[in-house]
Amino acid sequence: MAETKTQPWWKNAVVYQIYPRSFQDSNGDGIGDIPGIIRRLPYLEELGIDAVWLSPVCRSPQDDNGYDISDYQDIDPMFGTLEDMEQLIAEAKKHHIRIIMDLVLNHTSDEHRWFLEAKKGKNNPYHDYYVWRDGEEGTYPNDMKATFGGPAWEWVPELGQYYFHQFSVKQPDLNWENPKVRREIYDMILWWMKKGVGGFRLDVIDQIAKEPDRGITNNGPRLHEFLRELSRETFQKGDLITVGEAWGANAENAKLYSAPDGSEFSMVFQFEHMVMDQKEEKWDLAPLPFVKLKKDLAKWQTELYGVGWNSLFLNNHDLPRIVSRWGDDGKYRKESAKMLATMLHGMQGTPYIYQGEELGMTNVRFPDIADYRDIESLNMYKERMAAGYKEEDVMESIYAKGRDNARTPMQWDASKNAGFTEGTPWIGVNPNYTEINAEAEKKDPDSVFHYYQKLIRLRKEYPVFLDGKFELLLPEDGQIFAYTRTDEDAALLVCVNFTGEDASWSMPEEFRGARTLIHNYPGEGPEGTLRPYEAFMLYKKK
Ligand code: GLC
Ligand code: CA
Repeated sequence: MAETKTQPWWKNAVVYQIYPRSFQDSNGDGIGDIPGIIRRLPYLEELGIDAVWLSPVCRSPQDDNGYDISDYQDIDPMFGTLEDMEQLIAEAKKHHIRIIMDLVLNHTSDEHRWFLEAKKGKNNPYHDYYVWRDGEEGTYPNDMKATFGGPAWEWVPELGQYYFHQFSVKQPDLNWENPKVRREIYDMILWWMKKGVGGFRLDVIDQIAKEPDRGITNNGPRLHEFLRELSRETFQKGDLITVGEAWGANAENAKLYSAPDGSEFSMVFQFEHMVMDQKEEKWDLAPLPFVKLKKDLAKWQTELYGVGWNSLFLNNHDLPRIVSRWGDDGKYRKESAKMLATMLHGMQGTPYIYQGEELGMTNVRFPDIADYRDIESLNMYKERMAAGYKEEDVMESIYAKGRDNARTPMQWDASKNAGFTEGTPWIGVNPNYTEINAEAEKKDPDSVFHYYQKLIRLRKEYPVFLDGKFELLLPEDGQIFAYTRTDEDAALLVCVNFTGEDASWSMPEEFRGARTLIHNYPGEGPEGTLRPYEAFMLYKKK
């Protein structure tokens, strides 16, 4: 382990994200669950990760797969019981793994007790827990749209009012202006902290301070005031990792979110690098501007150095599989999956691995829209078909960007349903599971799995990963992504060929003869031409 006495534990940690419904089923109902996760803890320990972020497991009608919570202090029966959750926390600890919960605080389910009360009348004590506007049926308070399609306002005839929802109709927004709402939330968080969770991921947290009358969704004026209060009342009473999901984060406000004094969070998920290969909307595809991507990631590395902290990720449950997106999921699947991991894991920050990424799992192409489950894809399909788009174009968008790409079951082995369930899986298994699965990967010393395992180990072995200063090399090169990390004692060179073609490369003088830490082709890190998706790291003591 690197010497980290003065550093919080999560700076040296690697986090693994589990999407519970797709990870491991234990009772044959076709849906992954908490006992299934417990069964797979040895696998996670073998990979070497330090913490697991669980997408929501709280009680929920599952309109948005758990991101619509109806009881924050109970587990959805689909996933198990509160006792199962307590057991998971305890068992994980034995495997040196902390459990990070997903907190969805911008909205609840419309079946949450608070909302059911709120709908009863304008004088109900819970009414003001949500965001309402008087109006007339059919005349919306304004033209704001919901992320999952349609207007952001829903009419409630009994009240003669609209409520505001940034996501689906079944996800009414909470009113953070109301101090009672904030207090309830803090008490709920403290309750989970007492149960021994290791941290929280905060869903769309930059949207809580919305001001719909001014069209403001994220980065509202009171956002950081709310976050500092939230942090003070809860997280700062423990030793937690906290990561906010913030699509509106930029390198400036990220310094507030991840301030080293811990006044807000440990770090945020920002998405600048994840929205470059699209036009206005994510469904409208555009080629990846590679040079721009490099400069952007370099900017985050440099801007937050010493004054904030980065999260490092290329995948999650909302994003397509990175090997299909920026690599080559055919001929060079293994090489390109390792290349992307090398590029990312050499940077400063806390890496997040999304389930199956460590196997080089790919996107899926189901033949029929009926095979899809994600509310966002299904709504988009309806809207675009009605608007006259060609079906094959709509399906191409889903194949490239749909969230179900990440949600097909984890591929454990080559047996029926990839070892995920004995029953019928809630969503189809990617047919390539017979080839790509954890069992096969573990047997192959040259696999993507073992490569990730090694990257995780290296980060803990060499302190330069933790504190080395970042410098981008060859910023204008259209094929190579190379950078160095340097501290007082050592220098690290990370170099990858981002393309399926040879790339011309010449080793910087100071790294000639340096030690190869990792390489996705046999032998030492090359001095000349790089082969397709070739990637390596070199290390030199000063
Ligand atoms: C976040 C989640 C996503 C969810 C949305 C609404 O973006 O990651 O899965 O649909 O928030 O809660
Ligand atoms: Ca189950």
